[in-house]
Amino acid sequence: MSTADPVKVAVVYYSSTGIIAAIAKEISSAAENAGAEVRLRRAKELAPQAAIDSNPAWAENARATASIPEAVPDDLLWADAMVLGTPTRFGNVSSQLKQVLDQLGGAWEKGLLADKVYSGFTSSATLHGGQESTLLALYNTMHHFGGLIASPGYTDGSKFVDGNPYGTSHVDGAGENPVDDVTRQAARVQAERVVRIARALKSGLAQT
Ligand SMILES: Cc1cc2nc3c(=O)[nH]c(=O)nc-3n(C[C@H](O)[C@H](O)[C@H](O)COP(=O)(O)O)c2cc1C
Repeated sequence: MSTADPVKVAVVYYSSTGIIAAIAKEISSAAENAGAEVRLRRAKELAPQAAIDSNPAWAENARATASIPEAVPDDLLWADAMVLGTPTRFGNVSSQLKQVLDQLGGAWEKGLLADKVYSGFTSSATLHGGQESTLLALYNTMHHFGGLIASPGYTDGSKFVDGNPYGTSHVDGAGENPVDDVTRQAARVQAERVVRIARALKSGLAQT
């Protein structure tokens, strides 16, 4: 693998009120800084317009991220590594991100999603609000793909500060806590690890 063939990373996320969108941008920048070619993609909104309009933060995030392309299956097929982000929804993956994954049945059947690197990030309103269960639920799908999950673990000293080895996560305090330096550091560590592992995997697979 040459530098002309960089690792390709798709950062695919859903975000209502902007927390996950902010983390997705941090992960995208860090992956680019680590030498990856990045596609930042958002999951198509499925909620009714009235629900969006009823929440100023949701309406503002929809406006602010309208220029980010919606994810299509090709974005995930294109990628060597996928970093997937979702707010927790009752301890689970949001329906919008799930819908992106649920469009991949054909690609899964052909084995096109195997041998890729996957990693996830999430946010919740409350501490212990379901972050770990959300990431583990997300990772169920990656096992079905035959993917390789690159969780951050405690591979960097900063992980003992943010405390989530399953993936970057943030507690937004119901809109009171914007994405902070601790979460941004976790995002950068995760992005750099994903790029490093994907680069090693891509180069190794090229020799098989
Ligand atoms: C339907 C729904 C379910 C939610 N479930 C939880 C939950 O189980 N635990 C929690 O702490 N927060 C929960 N939240 C809050 C969001 O996960 C949280 O505010 C998140 O940080 C929002 O991310 P976003 O700004 O990217 O949309 C829920 C929000 C909604 C709308």
